[in-house]
Amino acid sequence: MEVADVTFCPQMKFNMIHTTNMIRFTLNSFSFFFFIVAIRNMNNLEELDLSYNSIEDIKGFERLSVLRKLKLLDLTYNSFNNGIVPSLGFLSSLKTLSIQYNNLNGSIDIGEFHNMSNLEELDLSHNDIDNIKGLKSLSKLKMLNLRWNELKGLVTSNGLDGLKHLQELYLDYSSIDKIFLHNVGVMSSLRVLTLRNNGLNGSLPNQGWCELSNLQELDLSENGFNGMLPSCLEDLTSIRILDLSFNQFTGSLTSSPLSNLTTLEYLFLSYNHFEIPISFVSFCNHSKLKVFLGDNNRLSDQIELQTWIPKFQLKVLSLSNCGSNNLGMKFSHFLFYQYDLRRVDLSHNLVKTFPVWLLENNTRLEVFRLINCSLMGPFLLPSYPKPHAISIDISDNHIEGPIPTNIGSIFPNLRNLNSSRNLIQGHIPTSLGDMHSLEILDLSNNNLSGQIPKHLTIGCPLLFFFALSNNNLSGQISFSFVNLTWLGYLYLDNNYFTGKFPDSVSIPPFLRAFGIGNNHMFGKLPRWMGSVLTLMGISMFSNHFEGPIPIEFCTLGFLQFLDLSENNLFGSIPSCFNQLKIKHVHLNQNQLSGPMTRAFYNSSSLVTLDLSDNHLTGTIPSWIGSLHVLSILLLKSNSLEGEIPVQLCQLKQLSILDLSENNFSGPIPPCFHEIPFETTHEKSSLQTSTGFIFSTFALWSFVDRSKSLGNHYLVDDSYGGISINSLDVQQKVEFTTKHGSYAYKGNILDYMSGVDLSCNHLTGEIPLEMGNLSNIHILNLSHNNLYGSIPSTFSQLKQIESLDLSYNRLNGKIPSQLIELNMLEVFSVAYNNLSGATPDRKAQFATFEKSSYEGNPHLCGLPLQTNCTKIVSTSTMSKGLERNIEDGSFIDMEVFYVSFLVSYIVMLLGIVAILFINPHWRQAWFHLVEMCMTSWYYFFLDNFMKFFCNRSM
Ligand SMILES: *[C@@H]1O[C@H](CO)[C@@H](O)[C@H](O)[C@H]1NC(C)=O
Ligand SMILES: *[C@@H]1O[C@H](CO)[C@@H](O)[C@H](O)[C@H]1NC(C)=O
Ligand SMILES: *[C@@H]1O[C@H](CO)[C@@H](O)[C@H](O)[C@H]1NC(C)=O
Ligand SMILES: *[C@@H]1O[C@H](CO)[C@@H](O)[C@H](O)[C@H]1NC(C)=O
Ligand SMILES: *[C@@H]1O[C@H](CO)[C@@H](O)[C@H](O)[C@H]1NC(C)=O
Repeated sequence: MEVADVTFCPQMKFNMIHTTNMIRFTLNSFSFFFFIVAIRNMNNLEELDLSYNSIEDIKGFERLSVLRKLKLLDLTYNSFNNGIVPSLGFLSSLKTLSIQYNNLNGSIDIGEFHNMSNLEELDLSHNDIDNIKGLKSLSKLKMLNLRWNELKGLVTSNGLDGLKHLQELYLDYSSIDKIFLHNVGVMSSLRVLTLRNNGLNGSLPNQGWCELSNLQELDLSENGFNGMLPSCLEDLTSIRILDLSFNQFTGSLTSSPLSNLTTLEYLFLSYNHFEIPISFVSFCNHSKLKVFLGDNNRLSDQIELQTWIPKFQLKVLSLSNCGSNNLGMKFSHFLFYQYDLRRVDLSHNLVKTFPVWLLENNTRLEVFRLINCSLMGPFLLPSYPKPHAISIDISDNHIEGPIPTNIGSIFPNLRNLNSSRNLIQGHIPTSLGDMHSLEILDLSNNNLSGQIPKHLTIGCPLLFFFALSNNNLSGQISFSFVNLTWLGYLYLDNNYFTGKFPDSVSIPPFLRAFGIGNNHMFGKLPRWMGSVLTLMGISMFSNHFEGPIPIEFCTLGFLQFLDLSENNLFGSIPSCFNQLKIKHVHLNQNQLSGPMTRAFYNSSSLVTLDLSDNHLTGTIPSWIGSLHVLSILLLKSNSLEGEIPVQLCQLKQLSILDLSENNFSGPIPPCFHEIPFETTHEKSSLQTSTGFIFSTFALWSFVDRSKSLGNHYLVDDSYGGISINSLDVQQKVEFTTKHGSYAYKGNILDYMSGVDLSCNHLTGEIPLEMGNLSNIHILNLSHNNLYGSIPSTFSQLKQIESLDLSYNRLNGKIPSQLIELNMLEVFSVAYNNLSGATPDRKAQFATFEKSSYEGNPHLCGLPLQTNCTKIVSTSTMSKGLERNIEDGSFIDMEVFYVSFLVSYIVMLLGIVAILFINPHWRQAWFHLVEMCMTSWYYFFLDNFMKFFCNRSM
C-alpha cells in the first residue's frame, strides 16, 4: 500500500491531482473549488482531511461519491451547516467522520446518512445541535462525540438505546437533561461516559444507569449533584476512572459504595463535601488505586482502630484544604507504606512537623506541596539525592534555621523551589547553583542574610522567576544575573543591597518585573532599561538614585507600574511619558522640578499618580480631565499654583486627592461634588493578564492513560508549577488623615477616599454642594483663606471620619446638624471667626476637646471655657428681633425694653468713651449717626405701628 501524506499547495496542485494511488490527502487553507475539480481521479483515497478551511459551500460535494474507498473524512473547523448531512450519505465505506467546529444547528437527522452503516466514529462536537434523530441507522457506531452542543432534547429513547455497540459517549458541556441518566443503563456496551458540566443537580438516581457494568470511565464533574452516593454505584464493577469533582456530594467515604469499587485506578473527588477518613481504611480492599484527588473536602480525624496494609501504591495524592486540624499527629499509616508517590499535595492543612519521611520513602517523588501547613522546626532534607524531584513548595510555614547547604545535590533537577514566607535564616546556599534546571526560585519573606552566591546566577541559566525580597540580604549587586536569558521576574526589594548599575549590560530580553526598592543602590538610573520592551513593572523606590529620569523609560510600551519614589531624582518629568499605557506612577519624594507640561497628558490608563514632595511648579494642566480612570492623585508639597482646574471634576473614578502644601489660589470649584469619591475601585490590585508562567511542567498529563479512554486529563499548574496572576508589587500611598500621615498599602486603599486641600491660599466660600460628597472619609480644607459659613449640608457627609476646617476665616455658627456625623473621629474648626455655641456634646461630638474649637473668640460653650449665658441675652434678642421682622408678629415688649435699655446704655458709654479719646473717630461717628438716623427711625416706627395694630385688633 502506498501512502502519501501531502499538504496541498497551489503551485503543486496539478501534479497531485493525477496521483491516483494516493491514500491520504490533506488540504488546508485552500480554495475548495479547485479541490472539487481535482477530486475525480482520486478513487483510491482512504483518508481525506479538509479541516481548517472555512468551507461553507456544499455544492459539488456529491462528487465525493467517487471516493469509494474513503474511510476517514475530517471536516473540522469549516462552516458547514445542516445541509452537509444528506450530501455525505453516499460515503458507504466511511468509518470515521468528524464535523466538529462547524455550524450545524437545531435538530439533526442522522438517518440522512442512510448509506453510512459502516460508520464507527462520529464527532459532531462544538456545534449548536439540540437534538439528534435517526441514530439507529448507524448500527456499528462505537464512538459518538457530542460535546459542546445544546442537547436539551437528547434522551436515550431517540435512538441511543439502539446503539448496541457504542462504547464511548462524550456529552460534556452540552446541557443534557437529567432524565438521560435514568435510562442510559440500556447502552450496555458503554465503556466511557462523560457528562462534565451539564448543570445537572439533585442527588444521583439509584437506578437506570448503574447497569453499565462495562463502564470503565465515568465523568460527572462540574455539575451540581448533591446528597450521598447511591448504593447502586457498587454495580459499576469495571470502573477504572471516576470523576465526581466539583459537585456538592456529601457523606462519609467509610460507608460509601466507593469501598466496593476495587477496580478503581483514578478517583477524583476534589471540591465536594465528602468526609474522607484520615486512615483511608475505606480503600483497604483496593489494589489498583493510583491517583486520588480529594482537595477541598473534609478529612475526618477519627481514631484509627487498626493499622492496615494497603494493597495499592499511589502515584498522586492530593488532599489540600481538607480542614484537617492535625494531620501531622495522625499521619495515616497507609502513607507509611507508599513508596511510589510522584505528587503529594497536603497544603492548607495543619501538619506541623516536616514529613521528611515522605521524601525519603518515595524515591520518585516529583512534586511536593505543603503550603500553609504550620510546619515548624528546621528545613529538613532527605539523606539521599532525589533526582526525580521537580517542584517543592513549602511556602507560608514557620520553618526556621538555615537552608541545608547540600540542597543542590539532593535535588539536582528541581525546577521550582518555593520556601517563601517562613522564618529561614542564614545564607543562601551556593549549591543552589547546581540546580541547573531551576526556573522558579522564591525565597522571599524570610530572614536570610549574606550575599547572593555568584554560582547561583551562573549555574541556573533557566531562572525565570527569582524572588529574594523582604530578607536581610546585602552586598554588591553585580548584575551578572542579567545574563539569565529567560529571567522574567526579579524581586530584590527590601534588603540591604548596594551598588550601581553599570552603563551597559546584556539585558534579559523577556524581563517583566524588576524590583529593587528599599535598598542602598546609588548612581543614575540605567538608560538600557528602556530597551527591555517586555517590562511591566519597575520598583526602585527608596534608594539613593540620582539624576534625571531617562527618557528611554518612555519606550516601555507594556509598563504598568513605575515606582521611583524616595530617591534623589532631579530634573523635569519627561514629557514623553504620555505614550505609555501605564497605570501606576509613584515619583514622590524626589527633587523633580519644572511644570508638568505634557507628561502623562495622554495616559488614559493612569490609575495612580503620586508626584508629592517634589519641586514642581506651574499649574495643574487642564488635560488632567482626560485621565478618565485616575483614582489617586497626589500632588502634595510642591510649588504648584493657580486655580484648581474645573477639569478635575471630570475624573469620575477619583477617590483620593491631595493638593495640600502648594500655592493654589482662587475658590474651590463648586463642581467638586460631581466627583463621586467612591471607594469601590480596585486601586490596589495590579492584575495583569499576561503574567502567567507557562513553565514547562505547568501542564501535566497523566502517565499510562490509554488513548482510547476518554478525556485526556490535563492537570493544570496547581499540581506542578506556580501561577503568577499579577505583578508582585505593592501599591503604597501616603495620605494624611486623622492624627498623622499613614502609608496605605494593599487592600486598605480600596476603602479609602478623601480630599486634602490644606495649606494653600484658597479663598471664597465652601461650596454648599460639597455636602453631597457622601462617600468621602477625609476632608481637610485647613490653612487657607476660606470665608463664609460652614455649610449645614456637611451633615450629609455620612462616611466622614476626619473633618478639618481650621485656620481659615470662616464665620457664622457651627451647624448643629453636624452631630449627626456618627463616623467622625477627628474634627477641627479652630482658628476661624466662628460664633455662637459649640455643637451639643452628644455622640461623636462628646469626644472632641477644646483644641477642636480654640481660636474663635466668639465661640462659647463646652468644651471651651467661655460660658454661653453671658452672650445669650444679646443673642436671644437679636434672634427674636429677626424673627419678628420676618413674620411681622408680636414682640415681647418687656424683654425688648429691658434688653434694649441695658445694651443701649452699655453701647452709649462705650461710644462716648471712645469718642472722648479719639477726635478723628468723633467726626466720623457724627457723620455715621446722621446717615443711620433716618433708617433707624423708620425701622422702629414700622415695628411699633405693627405692634399697636395687633393690640388694637
Ligand atoms: C444508498 O444505497 C442504496 C442501496 O442500499 C442505493 O440504492 C442508493 O443509491 C445509495 N445512495 C447513494 C446516495 O449512494
Ligand atoms: C441554523 O443556522 C442557519 C444558518 O446557518 C440559520 O439560518 C437558522 O436560523 C439556524 N437555526 C436555528 C434554529 O438556530
Ligand atoms: C436544578 O436544575 C433545574 C434545571 O436547571 C433548575 O430549574 C432547578 O432550580 C435546579 N435546582 C436547584 C436546587 O438548583
Ligand atoms: C460491598 O462491600 C460490603 C462490605 O465491604 C459488602 O457487604 C457488600 O456485599 C459489597 N457489595 C457488593 C455488591 O459487592
Ligand atoms: C516510610 O517512613 C516511615 C516513617 O519513617 C516508616 O515507618 C516506613 O517504614 C517507611 N516506608 C517505606 C516503604 O520505606
